[in-house]
Amino acid sequence: MSAGQQQTARANTDAFARHRLVPRMLVDVETRDTSVELFGRRLPAPLLLAPIGVLEMAHRDADLAAARAARALGLPLVISSQGSVPMERTAAELGDSPRWFQLYWSKDDDVVDSFVERAAAIGSDALVVTLDTHVLGWRTKDLDLGYLPFARAEGIAQYTSDPAFRRLVEARAASATTSPSTDRPTPAAVRALLSMARHYPGDLRTNLRSPLPRAAVETFLDVFSRSSLTWGDLARLRSRTDLPIVLKGIQHPDDARLALDHGVDGIVVSNHGGRQVDGAIGSLDALPGVVGVVDGRVPVLFDSGIRGGADVVKALALGAAAVLVGRPWVYGLALAGADGARAVLENLWAELDLTMALCGVRSIDQIGPDLLAEAP
Ligand SMILES: Cc1cc2nc3c(=O)[nH]c(=O)nc-3n(C[C@H](O)[C@H](O)[C@H](O)COP(=O)(O)O)c2cc1C
Repeated sequence: MSAGQQQTARANTDAFARHRLVPRMLVDVETRDTSVELFGRRLPAPLLLAPIGVLEMAHRDADLAAARAARALGLPLVISSQGSVPMERTAAELGDSPRWFQLYWSKDDDVVDSFVERAAAIGSDALVVTLDTHVLGWRTKDLDLGYLPFARAEGIAQYTSDPAFRRLVEARAASATTSPSTDRPTPAAVRALLSMARHYPGDLRTNLRSPLPRAAVETFLDVFSRSSLTWGDLARLRSRTDLPIVLKGIQHPDDARLALDHGVDGIVVSNHGGRQVDGAIGSLDALPGVVGVVDGRVPVLFDSGIRGGADVVKALALGAAAVLVGRPWVYGLALAGADGARAVLENLWAELDLTMALCGVRSIDQIGPDLLAEAP
C-alpha cells in the first residue's frame, strides 16, 4: 500500500520505462560476475532485502522466513526496527550470512542507544537510518481499513525485547492513574487486547492480567519516532557507533551534500516505495542528481520500484552501487514463505545475470550510463 493517490508508487515504476537499455554485441561474456563489494564485504550480487516491518502480516514465520531466504542466497537482509521477531532471533537464523540493521530514530535516547548496541552485537555490517518515516504517510487503504498494526502490538518486537524500552513500559504501567473503564468493550477492543497479550514476551495467561502489554503499545506510540531530528543529531549517533551509517530516504541532491558534510558512509536513494509523500519524485529520477553530488565518495544505493533484473541494470547504470528490493520478495513470502521469498530473489538475480550477458557486460563495474538511452 502506498500513500495518497498512489502517484509516487506509479512514478517509481514509470521512471524505469523512460530509460531503455542499448545492448552491445560481440563481447566475450561467457563468464560473468555479479558480485560487488560493500562496506568491506563481498556480496554475491548487488541485491539486498529491504527492511520491511510487520512481516507477520505476510507470513507467520515473518522475519525468520526472510532470514532463511536471505541466507540461502547469501544476500544481506536489512533487519527492520519494526520487525515481528527480535533481531537476535533473526540474526541466529541468518547464521553467517550478512545482515544490516535499519533504525527508526526513537524519541528516547536510551532506546536508540540500546538498538544501536544490539545491532552491533548481532554482527550488522551497517546501520541504515531511515529518515523519511518520522510520521507515517497518508496511506488511504490503511485508513479505509482503520488498520495500524502497531496498535495491536504487531511489528514492535524489537521494542518489547529491548531492556531500555521495557524500563519505560514498566515505569508507565507503575504510574498509570486511570482506573479500568466500566464501558462494555467492543469486539475490536477485545481482539486488540488479545493481540497485545499474545505479542508481549512471556506467558499469555499472565499477560492477559498484566498492564504491561497495553503499556508497551502506548509507550511505543509515544516514542516511535522523532520529528524534531536534524542533521546535527547525526553527530550523537556517530559518537555511539563505529558501524557505517547509511541514510535511507535521500531524494534531494542538497540533502546528499549535507549527508556528506556530516560524514555519513552511504546513502539509499528511496521514497519508501511511494508510501510516504504522494506526488514525490520517482526514486529513479532522483538517483542521478544524488550520484552526481556524491561523485563516488560513498556508495549510493537505490530502492523503490525495482521489479525485475533489467530494472536492477538500469539503476546500476545510473550510478547505484546496489539495490534494495522491497515488495517483490514480500509477495513471494506471502505466497510460499521462505521458499517464495527466495524464488523471487533468485529470479531477479537470474534476470540480472542474463541481462548483463545480453547487454555485453561481464561484471557489475562495467555497467554504466553508456548502456542507456532515453525512451522516445
Ligand atoms: C509493507 C512495507 C513495510 C516497510 N517497512 C519498512 C521498515 O520497517 N523500515 C524501512 O526503512 N522501510 C520500510 N519499507 C520500505 C522498504 O524498505 C523499501 O524502501 C521499499 O519497499 C522499496 O520499494 P519497493 O517496494 O517498490 O521495492 C517498507 C515497505 C513496505 C512495502
